[in-house]
Amino acid sequence: MSDSHVQAPSLAKLLTHHSEKWRGFDRDVLPLPVAEMDYPIAEPIRAVLQEMVAQSDLGYLGSVPELAAGFAHFAAERWSWSVDTSQVKVASDVGVAVVEVLRVITQPGDKILINSPVYQNFYNWINETRLEKIDVPFTRSAIEGELNNPWQLDLDAVEEIYASGLRVHLLCSPHNPLGRVYSKDELVRIAQMAKRYNVLVVSDEIHAPLTFAEQQFFPFLAVSETAREVGITVTAASKGWNIAGLKCAIIVSQGDEMKAKLDQLPAAVHFRASILGAFASATAFAEGGTWLDTVMKELDHNRFLVRDLLREKLPMVRYHIPQNSYLAWLDLTALNLGENPSATLLEKGRVAFNAGHTYGAQSSQYVRLNFATSPEILNEAVLRIASTV
Ligand SMILES: Cc1ncc(COP(=O)(O)O)c(C=O)c1O
Repeated sequence: MSDSHVQAPSLAKLLTHHSEKWRGFDRDVLPLPVAEMDYPIAEPIRAVLQEMVAQSDLGYLGSVPELAAGFAHFAAERWSWSVDTSQVKVASDVGVAVVEVLRVITQPGDKILINSPVYQNFYNWINETRLEKIDVPFTRSAIEGELNNPWQLDLDAVEEIYASGLRVHLLCSPHNPLGRVYSKDELVRIAQMAKRYNVLVVSDEIHAPLTFAEQQFFPFLAVSETAREVGITVTAASKGWNIAGLKCAIIVSQGDEMKAKLDQLPAAVHFRASILGAFASATAFAEGGTWLDTVMKELDHNRFLVRDLLREKLPMVRYHIPQNSYLAWLDLTALNLGENPSATLLEKGRVAFNAGHTYGAQSSQYVRLNFATSPEILNEAVLRIASTV
């Protein structure tokens, strides 16, 4: 298969996969949670992995300048961002990277801001680092245009929290599960407020490569000098190129003071990443563009397919077209599926989604559907919801 054409394998093949998505449920359950894609990986990544395995080149990770160089190449090409590669550090995954960064820049008990509904592990990372969570939730605007993301963040409310003695704002940019891409103006304002109130911004940009063509993604560290003073970006090739199991992420700063802070990270943060992950990620950023563009076409098709299937079979489900990534955030309130719709759908419909309440208490009637799969599986998933109602 070439990188100009990707197709998810049959359900029977997918059921032989070893990942959590495919092992986490009974065999009769159609699984659409867990943010990984069902598509075959990019050819250059397959080649580097095959070569390293063939050479038994599976030792500890040492120096890997190819990774920072690859990321800088991708960032320049896609986001016109010129990255200082001397400020790119390696970690084993985004979760570990955020936790290790928080350990360096906070003290237990410090206040950290999130914006719910948000990627469920944000809550775990905050518990792990014993920080005090503050939440300024997104609100859903009544105006829902086709490609307009309806979710709004009240930056005046965010400023009030900044002013009340906040240490860190953990930003999910682009936002999972809302599929929302921050505007440059929003990020510039966040950076200005952070500087004014002495807040640090940790921007989780793992979904950024998966931004749809009509939308522009702005890396936080590229929006202003002020952002470079207050910000740290944590990102990876793992989401964009579907290699999460290989365990590699990067931590990026672009200011001298921030670099000095991050130099306090234990050296082991680098060595705990996997050698396969580091070289696969370097290859993804440097040579994975064709595959990524092909996958984005599939995802683009699928984000509208989800809309069409719902319109046809379940018109009372609320869905907005995501601007980024492959996660559909479905409001199932009108289906009356009880306190935990995802549990009802699993039990009665034999179809699995991520439960809305894990992203924020106000989202209990939502589920997150992963549409990085085949149209057949999506069709079957919607049929299974419809059969439950
Ligand atoms: C926003 C966000 N951050 C981090 C992760 C996980 O990254 P990692 O596996 O590198 O810890 C995910 C996975 O879905 C995610 O959506």
